[in-house]
Amino acid sequence: MSGIILCQSKYGASKKYAEWISQETGFKIVETKKADIKDVEKYDTVILGGGVYASAIAGISFLKKNIDALKGKKIAVFCCGAAPYDDEILDILKKKNMKDKLAGIPCFYYQGMWDLEGMKFGDKTICKMYVKMLSRKDPSEVKAWERPFLEAKDKKCDWTDKKYIEPLVKMIKEE
Ligand SMILES: Cc1cc2nc3c(=O)[nH]c(=O)nc-3n(C[C@H](O)[C@H](O)[C@H](O)COP(=O)(O)O)c2cc1C
Repeated sequence: MSGIILCQSKYGASKKYAEWISQETGFKIVETKKADIKDVEKYDTVILGGGVYASAIAGISFLKKNIDALKGKKIAVFCCGAAPYDDEILDILKKKNMKDKLAGIPCFYYQGMWDLEGMKFGDKTICKMYVKMLSRKDPSEVKAWERPFLEAKDKKCDWTDKKYIEPLVKMIKEE
């Protein structure tokens, strides 16, 4: 079985998950931005992973653009956000990122990292505004998956855990 992992990561969490998946499968990792479909279509399995920024999965446009060329291949997507796993989050992400021809592709969500002070200027501004907006909410209206943003604020957090990749790796190794 041959396979490739495409990954787009700004702050390192998706890259860490890609490396763990690579350790378990032996697949090489290529940065999605630098991926060439002529190379990618040589593999039986394609895994695409990326960070979640304002509910958008980084690099998903590569799949949208090339989905016809990848017909018949085993494809899986993983994405990495700061919020803890929640069915509602996965549902929102799937609706926003995996419409039409991407709709049936398995999508896995992993918790990543949060480091407000280490963020690039524009990202920091957006995230500070988001935390401020959450802190103004009535506490009873703050959803369980929004709470870690309030608790983290400017604390550096790393929620990555290798165990999260198990279902994806199992799926890839099956069949
Ligand atoms: C501009 C920006 C927007 C973000 N939006 C979300 C979001 O919508 N949901 C979420 O769970 N995390 C969000 N995060 C947190 C990132 O998903 C988290 O830091 C993750 O680890 C990013 O992946 P990476 O480390 O591979 O870059 C956001 C972070 C930034 C900088």
